[in-house]
Amino acid sequence: MKKRIVVKLSGSLFGLEDMKTLKQYAEFFVKMSKVCQPIIIAGGGKIARHYISHARSSGADESTLDELGIEVSRLNAKLLIYALQEKAYPHPPVNLKEVANAADTGLIVVTGGLHPGQSTNATAALIAEKVRANTFFNATDVDGVYDSDPNKNKNASKFKKISIKKLRSMLVHQDSIAGGYDLMDIVALKVIERSKLKTRILKADTKILEKAIKGSPEGTEITLV
Ligand code: UTP
Repeated sequence: MKKRIVVKLSGSLFGLEDMKTLKQYAEFFVKMSKVCQPIIIAGGGKIARHYISHARSSGADESTLDELGIEVSRLNAKLLIYALQEKAYPHPPVNLKEVANAADTGLIVVTGGLHPGQSTNATAALIAEKVRANTFFNATDVDGVYDSDPNKNKNASKFKKISIKKLRSMLVHQDSIAGGYDLMDIVALKVIERSKLKTRILKADTKILEKAIKGSPEGTEITLV
């Protein structure tokens, strides 16, 4: 069996602006599928936030808003599935068991969110645990974890490695971390810790991801101690 990798793709890749990006990602994952089996989790991005803020202003409750976010992330997942054509499991699995069954087909699997009350990062960690992934890559719009917001502080420096403990304490003081909650959240960290998942936060860029999949230390590695 090929080693499995789990990749959380930031919702920002599924923006309205650019149709080329997804096609590039599809080609990239087909190429990578020769050496590993990609299991991909699509984020909800701006479109999810747009729907959520509309529905919130109409008074919808929080779990309903989460379900809306999940639906959008599944639509994003479908866009990537269509670009992957027959190389992909034909629809986004809706629960962990279905993700595992889909992975057993050997195809590339693309899913969105699964349960209300969590982020796609936490879901991706649970999926990595379930499919016994070799590595969990969180591909996002920053190139790793910084000691302060690199958009605000030009002297911010990037961690090559960061322990779960330190990341957790930074998440508690969200202001002190670039992108804050978006990079990883408490539930995701808990899962990474309990299953000792090899995890890396890195820039959503196919060249960088390819290097990382081949073992290069791109972005920031999350360490257990
Ligand atoms: P995310 O906020 O995780 O997507 O999901 P994102 O756009 O990828 O985030 P970035 O790009 O990393 O910043 C969108 C919303 O969908 C709901 C939540 O409300 C979340 O804020 N969701 C998603 C769930 O409730 N459960 C899931 O498993 C996934």
